Amino acid sequence: MDIDRIKAGIKGTIGREIYLYDIVDSTNTIALQLSENSSDGTVVIADSQRKGRGRLGRRWFSPPGLNLYLSIILKGGINNKKLNLLTFIASIACAHAIRRFSGLNVSIKWPNDLIISKKKLGGILTELKFNKDSFIAVVGIGINVNINISEFPEEIRPISTSLRNETGKTYSREDLIAEILNEFDEWYSTLKKDDKDRIFNEWKRLNITLGKKVKILSEGKTLVGIAEDIDENGFLLLKLQSCVIKKIISGDVKLINNQSFLP
Ligand code: BTN
Repeated sequence: MDIDRIKAGIKGTIGREIYLYDIVDSTNTIALQLSENSSDGTVVIADSQRKGRGRLGRRWFSPPGLNLYLSIILKGGINNKKLNLLTFIASIACAHAIRRFSGLNVSIKWPNDLIISKKKLGGILTELKFNKDSFIAVVGIGINVNINISEFPEEIRPISTSLRNETGKTYSREDLIAEILNEFDEWYSTLKKDDKDRIFNEWKRLNITLGKKVKILSEGKTLVGIAEDIDENGFLLLKLQSCVIKKIISGDVKLINNQSFLP
């Protein structure tokens, strides 16, 4: 990967400082380690990861030369209330950047999946480090860019996709990274200004979860209901058959009543 090409495309403060590695265990791990001595918006990128991690303790498949694995260090005084929204702004930024970059119709599945054609294109893993009274957040982004569907491990092949798989084209990872970081910069400013309405409105416009019947695996239980809305923290409000509304803080959502393999 060509760091100069990425830097040439950076317009704001996110990505002004970049650490680029050939191989790491996880860019999130490196970002958390570097975070105390790094400035807000520093980015860690790797060509591949040995132990790329996803949500809910899952592994993130991270082969070399093909995809995008990056982590953004954020220490811009985001308070507890705004924390959950970091994942939201990251998914909005990725969806916008990828739409502009590839013309593909990217949607968001609560809380953090980037979806094209009912399959998973990418995901976001936000992790925190408490530092005296404040905290540092690391937003990790993984996007399947130039990987061929046949190269995915068998168990995730039916539910995964990549930009190349969707269009047959090969993409510059450097240019896509710059697009994503610039878009993230804009939404990070929106979050700092506390303009939650703009964030929720845009997330709702891009999401494919709300209004659907869903099955959720959360805290060891399976729940079925209608994904009614999200609350002011971004938690999912699930309407159960009994009409009780249950707040879901984290979990694995499957859309039901459609014929797809949607993860
Ligand atoms: C998910 O959908 O479960 C989240 C996947 C997040 C993957 C990215 S790749 C870059 C960063 N480093 C990691 O180890 N994970 C995130």
